[in-house]
Order: sequence, then structure tokens, then C-alpha cells
Amino acid sequence: MTIEGKKILVTGGAGFIGSWIAETLASKNSVKVADSLKTGNKDNLKKILPKVEFTETDIRKREKLSGLIQGAEIVFHQGANVQIQASVDDPQMDADINIGGTLNVLDACRKHDVERVVFASSSAIYGNPSNIPVTESAKPSPLSPYALSKLAGESYMKLYSDLYGLKTISLRYFNVYGPRQNADSPYSGVISIFTKNVREGKPLTVFGDGEQTRDFVNVKDVVKANMLAAESKPAVGKAFNIGTGKSISLNDMISILEKKTGKKLVVKYKEKRKGDVMHSCPDISLARKILGFVPSVAFEDGLSELL
Ligand code: UD1
Repeated sequence: MTIEGKKILVTGGAGFIGSWIAETLASKNSVKVADSLKTGNKDNLKKILPKVEFTETDIRKREKLSGLIQGAEIVFHQGANVQIQASVDDPQMDADINIGGTLNVLDACRKHDVERVVFASSSAIYGNPSNIPVTESAKPSPLSPYALSKLAGESYMKLYSDLYGLKTISLRYFNVYGPRQNADSPYSGVISIFTKNVREGKPLTVFGDGEQTRDFVNVKDVVKANMLAAESKPAVGKAFNIGTGKSISLNDMISILEKKTGKKLVVKYKEKRKGDVMHSCPDISLARKILGFVPSVAFEDGLSELL
């Protein structure tokens, strides 16, 4: 199946990842974007407005969402509470959006015969996995309300596929980075914070000894995974790890930043964050095999673009 020419709805389409999905599809598809603008930003759509139809709404608003989903053929469901700390402070809000909102999306898709739903899940569902690299068959162990609500979202995706024949696919994003990622909160992605501080000549703060590792995957590759998931037949009903398959420590990442800027950066080491995972790395063989997913952005190039 090809998604070219299909009618698309992107929930969370004004957000960091959703806006890149909308932008990628805008030239060859009719695209609608729904976003509450709670963490999304209309500026992210400036290149594609008014070609893309934007509606400010929250996925908790069932009727309005259903009206937007009516007529869509493919839904990229990226809308979510994405703030882990906010989920810890207010688990009910997180569940209302990430579980209730996801159910609203699925139910409207079922009602309006949407062909396919691609869901943004998270590596957070694994918690602290006992084996690294982690495969999709590892036992989930959510450590935050956010991780739990993403896991519930995935389970509903699978259930709607099995029970109602709605074609759903979940993508477990690892540490996504790239242009448009918000850097304004201490809980923003570390790359967005570090590259912003480097640009502004400010010191970097490392929580812990800097030896923690992450798989940083460029948003362009995440968009690619979404496109593949929207087209792949054998992917239906499954969940996939989406990363590069290679992790790097914060200290090594800082060395790359120093090499690129030609400057010695000021780095302050502070106490490790509570609940912080030490090592995170996906096995991406399943995405490779079933989706044909091959990440293509070299980490150094992705960093250069942000600097
Ligand atoms: C990330 C995701 C989260 C996802 C989770 C899965 C982001 C923003 N968060 O959290 O959505 O569910 O993986 O496990 O992508 N750090 C510093 N200094 C800073 C900021 C962060 O040292 O200024 C450290 C953190 O303590 C952490 C590492 O850098 O050890 C990465 O932090 P962060 O980018 O927030 O991502 P995760 O915690 O992995």
C-alpha cells in the first residue's frame, strides 16, 4: 500500500515529531492537524499553513475529534501528554489524555472506517530492562504514569486490531532529537538543552557521572519509521522499537560537541536524577525486518544541524 494521496490526520501535529510528519506528507496528501497547543506550537507549521488544515483541539474532546477523524484514511496519533514529570505530579491528567484520548482516537477510527492508525509509543514502557539491547518481547515495566499510559495505549492499539480489525501499529520511540524540540524546560531532551546552551555559550549540567547511555534517534528517521509503518502490511497489530540501535554516553556526546565547536565546554556534574535509567538501547532488528527501517542520519550530522 502507498500512502501517497491519502487523507491524513495527525494528532499532536503541531508538536516536535507530529509537525515533521505533517510537513513530510503535506505536498502529496491532504493533511489535517489537530493539536491542543499545550506543548505543541503553531510556529512548527508555518511552512505548511494554510495548505494543511489546523484545528486547535484536545484529544479528550470526543465529538470534535470524531468530526476530524471522519473522512481520514490514515491517522498518525502523536498527541499526548509528553511530560514525564507532569505525569508524576498529576497521573489523572496523564491518563485522561494518554489513555482516554487514545481511546477516543481509536473509537472514532473504528466508527469512521479509518484504514490505519500509527501510534507514538515510548521506550519508557521498558523501565530498566534486564537485557540490553532490549527487544520488543521484553517484559514491560513502567516506572512512571506516563510510561504506564503509553503501555495502555499500545495495548488498546493491539486490542482494536485483534477485536475490530482496525489496522494499528505502535512505534516505541527511543530518545528522539532534532530541530523544533523544545529546550525550555529542565525536563526537555538533553540534546535540545545541550545544543542550545552551547549556542548561547552557557555551561552544561550533567546529572550523574555522564556515563549513562542513550540511543539518540533523529526525528527524520522517526518520520521515516512512521511512513513505513503506514504502508507495511505485516506490521499490523505489532509494536516496534524505533532507534538507531547504537547508544552513546553523555560524556562521549559532550566530547563530540567539543570537537565540533573547537571549544572546551564548561560541564557541571550534579546528583543523578531520581528514577533515571542508566542504560537504554534498543534492538531494532524487528523494525529492520518487518518495516524495512534503516536509520540514515549519522549522529554527528544531526548534532551539527542543531549547532
Ligand atoms: C527519554 C524521553 C522520554 C522517554 C524516555 C524513555 C525525552 C525528553 N524524554 O527520557 O520521553 O519516555 O526517554 O526512557 O526525550 N540530562 C542531563 N542534563 C540535562 C538533561 C538531561 O544530564 O540538562 C540527563 C538525564 O538525567 C538522562 C539523560 O540526560 O540521564 C537523558 O535525559 P533526557 O533527554 O531527559 O531523556 P530520558 O530521561 O532518557
